[in-house]
Amino acid sequence: MSGATELLPASREGILRAGELLAAGELVGIPTETVYGLAADARNPQAVLRIFQAKGRPADNPLIVHIADAADLEQVAEAEQISKTARKLASLFWPGPLTLVLPKRSDIPPETSAGLDTVGIRCPSHPAAREIIRASGTVLAAPSANLSGTPSPTLASHVMDDFSGRIAAVVDGGPCQVGLESTVVSFEGERVRLLRPGGVTLEQLREAVGGAEADPGVLQPAAEGERVRSPGMKYRHYSPKAKVVLVDGEWPAFTAYVEARSGPDVYALLSNREKEGFPCRCLTYGDNEEEHARALFDKLREVDKLGARTVYVRLPSQEGVGLAVTNRLLRAAGFEVVKV
Ligand code: TXA
Ligand code: MG
Repeated sequence: MSGATELLPASREGILRAGELLAAGELVGIPTETVYGLAADARNPQAVLRIFQAKGRPADNPLIVHIADAADLEQVAEAEQISKTARKLASLFWPGPLTLVLPKRSDIPPETSAGLDTVGIRCPSHPAAREIIRASGTVLAAPSANLSGTPSPTLASHVMDDFSGRIAAVVDGGPCQVGLESTVVSFEGERVRLLRPGGVTLEQLREAVGGAEADPGVLQPAAEGERVRSPGMKYRHYSPKAKVVLVDGEWPAFTAYVEARSGPDVYALLSNREKEGFPCRCLTYGDNEEEHARALFDKLREVDKLGARTVYVRLPSQEGVGLAVTNRLLRAAGFEVVKV
């Protein structure tokens, strides 16, 4: 592609145009309920390679394939190898923020799965996402539409900030409802392993299937040279340019810790209710885990626009979607937590 990036509305015309560009092998930023995706035809190796080039993404990090309807699962996964548990999770949580890692069909090229014989599959719930997939006439590989290593995009303008002039189009479907990437799970027989926490929580998975286990990589860094189950776990992620410092402690100790380090380029990221009377520069990101999830990436981008050098964040609760918020903050902080 060359020339300006088309900013398309999520109207009938906008969606048809996006579908046409995708069918022609172009890259299009698409809205989903989790984060914006940088989409390409998942069956077209050339188009998929363009995603890796545009993002600066390591070639060994596989992409998620997006389908318009749960019933299209067998267009991507090898039908005989889809476990009962996987089918149950799909029926309970699709369309929605859950990615299932399953044995792939042979017409999904190795470029999409980064050479693995499994592939991540997700049926998003955002109506525009599903319409765009239908309009493309194919299934869409889409990582988060950010430059590799920067916070994922939750607004069309974030995608424009990272890719304007470098991709064919972006469809503006408004702010993402969940705000963090989908929950990723893999299967060992009928056992479920949580590889990446997201909008579908570990508690919900356990209620649905009994034994679901979180991979150690959810809350700990992968050891040097360790073989990880999800290649994405190896990479530093979600980081603004500012240094994110995660602080674990009671509110008064947190406040004192930040105040002792305050300066013109030092910020804290707080709950709304904590802002009143806070002695230092701060941004807020809602009052509960869902609101934190929705606002986190936008706030991490804002921190850079403000020219912050350091941003202090108190370790959130790990319940429900809080586990996903904690996982993204840990990665942004390089897994360092300061105890106060
Ligand atoms: O919510 C989302 O999942 C967004 C939207 C656009 O759908 N997409 C997204 O894609 O977050 P990406 O590429 O940023 O993250 C995909 C994650 C990576 O951590 C990758 O390693 C993992 O899923 N993954 C994909 N295929 C896999 C596979 N076959 N085995 C293990 N992990 C896989
Ligand atoms: Mg990503």
